[in-house]
Amino acid sequence: MCGIIGYVGETDAIDVLLDGLSELEYRGYDSAGVALTTETVHVRKSEGKLEALKAQLSDAKLRGPTTGIGHTRWSTHGPPSDANAHPHTDEAGRVAVVHNGIIENYQSLRDELTSADVAFESDTDTEVIPHLIASFLEAGDDPETAFRRTIGRLEGSYAIAAVFEGRDEIYAARHESPLVLGVGDGGYYLASDVPAFLEYTDRAVYVEDGELVRLENDELVVTDESGTVVEKSVETVDWDAEDTGKSGYDHYMLKEIYEQPTALRQCLRGRVDELAGEITLEELEDIGDVSRVQFVACGTSYHAALYGAELCRSHGVHASTQIASEFAADRMPLDAETLVVGVTQSGETADTLRALREAASAGANTLVVTNTVGSSATRVCDHVLYIRAGPEIGVAATKTFASQQIALTLLAGKLSDGLSYDDIESLRDVPDLVQTVLDTSKAREIAEEILGSDAYLFIGRGLAYPVALEGALKFKEITYEHAEGFAAGELKHGPLALVTDRTPVFAVVTGNDELAQKTISNIKEVEARDAPVVLVTDGQSGADRYADYVLEIPVADELSAAVVANVQLQLISYWVANLMGRSIDKPRNLAKSVTVE
Ligand code: F6R
Repeated sequence: MCGIIGYVGETDAIDVLLDGLSELEYRGYDSAGVALTTETVHVRKSEGKLEALKAQLSDAKLRGPTTGIGHTRWSTHGPPSDANAHPHTDEAGRVAVVHNGIIENYQSLRDELTSADVAFESDTDTEVIPHLIASFLEAGDDPETAFRRTIGRLEGSYAIAAVFEGRDEIYAARHESPLVLGVGDGGYYLASDVPAFLEYTDRAVYVEDGELVRLENDELVVTDESGTVVEKSVETVDWDAEDTGKSGYDHYMLKEIYEQPTALRQCLRGRVDELAGEITLEELEDIGDVSRVQFVACGTSYHAALYGAELCRSHGVHASTQIASEFAADRMPLDAETLVVGVTQSGETADTLRALREAASAGANTLVVTNTVGSSATRVCDHVLYIRAGPEIGVAATKTFASQQIALTLLAGKLSDGLSYDDIESLRDVPDLVQTVLDTSKAREIAEEILGSDAYLFIGRGLAYPVALEGALKFKEITYEHAEGFAAGELKHGPLALVTDRTPVFAVVTGNDELAQKTISNIKEVEARDAPVVLVTDGQSGADRYADYVLEIPVADELSAAVVANVQLQLISYWVANLMGRSIDKPRNLAKSVTVE
């Protein structure tokens, strides 16, 4: 999704903007641009990667300005092109604007401006903003008033930043799109996401919907809709720039897969109280009466939600899961005892936010399980449970999924009488079990063997079913190969038609219970059709004898096994994508936070 960076301070803005734009690359983008302001506004923008923009920046005029804004664009209105890249300006080039989100009433605004003879240069919804600002300037408004009146005309979701000619200031506002300010020594930053300025400062101010921001190099002023100054608190972000670097790994994704033992320890810290023998989730102490849990989520987080719901149900809590874009509060029973749980690592996914807002308006109790402090979802919901995975830069979610699994297990334990402290206590071994997999995995060798197949199928039952779905999603996202996940028992209801000797089947079988034995029957079905079987197993069920390849996991109890098994599938996806030379950290057509519905 689009990324915004802004800087006003004492040093050359262009360097800060380029650093910020590189940090925002992980959000996914197809063009980029900057605007620097002195007596005039200098705009440079280009379709394609940052390198294409950098090739336009040798101009001496771009050295010296200490105020500027930058943007990475992910196309929504109009294809990727130089003209559609941000920043956009008014006709006279006095104001430049960057925007993340969608202006829903842009067509009527565009018609209004066009009938006043304003000429548009792009297909974007964003371009109405600088033209509107210019119309208010022409009517005699000062920049702040013109910006405020413009914001008042917009409908939809947005984070917007604007610079004006001859002014060392940035104006900004947000509505349902992320915007965070950085407080540095001798300057202020503004961005869609903290990593964009983390190299410069770890002090952040979170902007709320409806607030208007004015940044100068020695002043940060936030006002509410009526213009009254709002006192904002400065929060220290406990990530360091090292956390967002690759630390010697070839890809962020691999680094983040290897960070999972640490991430899981962070998620568990202080929440499983050995002495008291209880799960302590202080955040949820006032959760109230819960008679039913409805999960909403998208993509990988949806798989985590399926996992959480299965755990809740199997321990006596009524729970179901819906893809957030399919959720409609008026098509289901919701009341104050229904806990609607949004699972979203970014906390900014538009589909999930909409579902949570609808649920809240319908009177449900709402909780978000997220990785991102201060994200939009944390403001929408009554309760917040942080997964504490640390920054995840690779676009494909890995450590956040594992941390979601753990956080949701704790949640299920909190909500159910059936899942006791004694069950959950074993989770404290999960980080070590994951470490064992990381140290011993044969995923790389097996990836070499199965490369070049026609399609890749993933099966599992019970808690291993969402893991199979997640295995397939990760695989297709980063290898671009056809991959599908199924409930193992569903194979015989149709999907077996796909199975040939050129479709490896990954089967997740842990423990040795009835479910494991049933999955073995399904493995025999694919074996009979000559499909290569790649088994993820702890060896307890004896399924190995039907496997062509085995991805071993240590013996673990039910709550840990599905978390650990998933790590083998992450590694398989990574190594197949690596061998195919794919763009692993920024796979095509996928963004880190999807802020449009
Ligand atoms: C998968 C992936 C996406 C996200 C989905 C939801 O690797 O990254 O499928 O899981 O867009 O994102 P969040 O969790 O931020 O709501």
